[in-house]
Amino acid sequence: MSTAISQTAYNYKVVRQFAVMTVIWGVVGMGLGVLIAAQLVWPELNFNLPWTSFGRLRPLHTNAVIFAFGGCALFATSYYVVQRTSQARLISDGLAAFTFWGWQAVIVLAVITLPLGYTSSKEYAELEWPIDILITIVWVSYAIVFFGTIAKRRTKHIYVGNWFFGGFILTVALLHIVNNMEIPVYAFKSYSLYSGATDAMIQWWYGHNAVGFFLTAGFLGMMYYFVPKQAERPIYSYRLSIVHFWALITVYIWAGPHHLHYTALPDWAQSLGMVMSLILLAPSWGGMINGMMTLSGAWHKLRTDPILRFLVVSLAFYGMSTFEGPMMAIKTVNALSHYTDWTIGHVHAGALGWVAMISIGSLYHLIPKVYGREQMHSIGLINAHFWLATIGTVLYIASMWVNGITQGLMWRAVNQDGTLTYSFVEALEAGHMGYMVRALGGAFFLTGMLLMAYNTYRTVRVAKPAEYEAAAQIA
Ligand code: HEM
Ligand code: HEM
Repeated sequence: MSTAISQTAYNYKVVRQFAVMTVIWGVVGMGLGVLIAAQLVWPELNFNLPWTSFGRLRPLHTNAVIFAFGGCALFATSYYVVQRTSQARLISDGLAAFTFWGWQAVIVLAVITLPLGYTSSKEYAELEWPIDILITIVWVSYAIVFFGTIAKRRTKHIYVGNWFFGGFILTVALLHIVNNMEIPVYAFKSYSLYSGATDAMIQWWYGHNAVGFFLTAGFLGMMYYFVPKQAERPIYSYRLSIVHFWALITVYIWAGPHHLHYTALPDWAQSLGMVMSLILLAPSWGGMINGMMTLSGAWHKLRTDPILRFLVVSLAFYGMSTFEGPMMAIKTVNALSHYTDWTIGHVHAGALGWVAMISIGSLYHLIPKVYGREQMHSIGLINAHFWLATIGTVLYIASMWVNGITQGLMWRAVNQDGTLTYSFVEALEAGHMGYMVRALGGAFFLTGMLLMAYNTYRTVRVAKPAEYEAAAQIA
C-alpha cells in the first residue's frame, strides 16, 4: 500500500474494531439481561453467591448494554459517519486507537469491579473514581478525534448527523464530570461531593440526560445517516432536523426531576420537570416523523429489505417510548407507575425497540461496507433476527405493562377501614407470569443477537479489509 493512498483513505480499522465489539458486548450484555430476568423467576439462579446475585449483576447488565454495546455502536457509527460526510480521514489514527483500547479497558474494569461489589451506588454511574478518570481521558480523546475531523472536513456544511453526535459527545462529557465529583477514600471507594436532595437532583439530571444524550441524541445521529442511506432517499426535511435538534437539546436538560416525583425535591422543581417532559414530546416526535417520512416513495422497500425494517421499526418504538415517557412524567400517572415494572417496560421499549434496533440496522448496513463486501453473508438470517427482535421486544414490554399496572393498583388498594387490601407478597406473586413472559421475550431477543454474531463472523471471515481499504479513495 503506498503512503499516498493510505493517507487519503478513511480509517475503517477503528470502525471495524468497534463494530465487532458492539456485537460481542451485545451478546454479553443481553445474555446478562436474560440471566437477571430468569433470576426474578427462579431465585435459585442467584447461586447463593454474592458475585452472581441479582443486586450485583443488574448494574453489570445496565453498564454492559448501555456503555459497552451502545457505546461501541456509537463510536463505530460516529467514526464512520464523520469521515464519510466530511470526506476526511480521522484526524489521528493513534488517538482513535487509544479510544478503542481505552473504552474496552473501561468495560473490562466494570466487568471485574461490579460483581466484586465496588460501586459508587449512583445508577448508570456506578463505576468507582479511578475508572471515572479513565473514562474522562478516553472521552476527551474521542471529542478531539471527532471535532478535529470535522474541523478538517472537505465539505462546506456539517452534516446534520454530526450535529447530533457532537451534541451527544459534549453533553456526556459535562454530565459525567459533574455527576462523578466525588471524594476518594481509598482505591475503590469514594463519596459524592453532594449530599441529600442536591445529590439526588444532580444524579437524575445526569440519569435523565444519559437517556437524552447517550441513548437518544447519539442514536439520532445514527438515524440521520443510515435511514436515508438504506432507503436511498434524501432526508424528508433538513429544516425540521435543525429545529428539532435545538429544541431537543434545550428541553431535555430540564426534565430530570420527573425521576424524583413525590420526594424531598422541592415541589416546584418536580412540576418544572413534568412540564418540560410534556414539551419534550414535540421535538422527539419531530425526529421520529423526519425519519419515517424519509421513506416517502420508498415504503415498498420494506417488503424486501430487513435492514430497512429494523431502522423503521426502531423509529416506531422511539415514537412510542417518547409518548409513554411524557405521560409517565405527569405526577398523577407517576403515582401509579413509579417503582413498578411499568418503568422497566418503558425503559426497554426505548432500549430494545429504539437503541438496540437502530444499532442493529445500522451495523448490518455498515459491517459489509467496512469489510469490503457487497452485503452481509445471509439476508435470510437478518430477516429471522428482525422477527426475533420485534417479537422479543413486544413480549418484554407488554408483560411489564401488565405487571406494572397490576402492581400499582394492588399497592394502592385499601379496605374501607383504611388497611391495605393486598400484602406486598401477593402483589409479587401476581407478577410471576409476567416475569416468565419477559424472560422468554429476552431469550427471543438474545437468540437474534446470536444469529447476528454468526452472520457477522461469516461476513468478516472471508473479507480482506486491508486490500479493500487501500483501494478505497475518498470520494
Ligand atoms: C435480552 C435483552 C434484555 C433483557 C432480558 C433485559 C432484562 C433486564 C432486567 C431483568 C432488568 C432488571 C429489572 C428490574 O430490576 O426489575 C433490566 C434493567 C435494565 N435494562 Fe435490560 N434487558 C435487556 C436488554 C437491554 C438493553 C439492550 C438495554 C439498553 C440499551 C437495557 C437497559 C436496561 C436498563 C437501563 C435497566 C434499568 C432500568 C431501571 O432501573 O429502571 N436492557 N433489564
Ligand atoms: C420524551 C421522552 C421521554 C420522557 C419524557 C421520559 C420520561 C420518563 C419517566 C417519567 C420515567 C419514570 C421515572 C420514575 O418514575 O422513576 C422514565 C424512566 C426511564 N426512561 Fe424515559 N422518557 C423518555 C424517553 C426515554 C427513552 C427514549 C429511553 C431509552 C432509550 C428512556 C429510558 C428511561 C430509563 C432508563 C428510565 C429508568 C430510569 C431509572 O429509574 O433507572 N426514556 N422516563
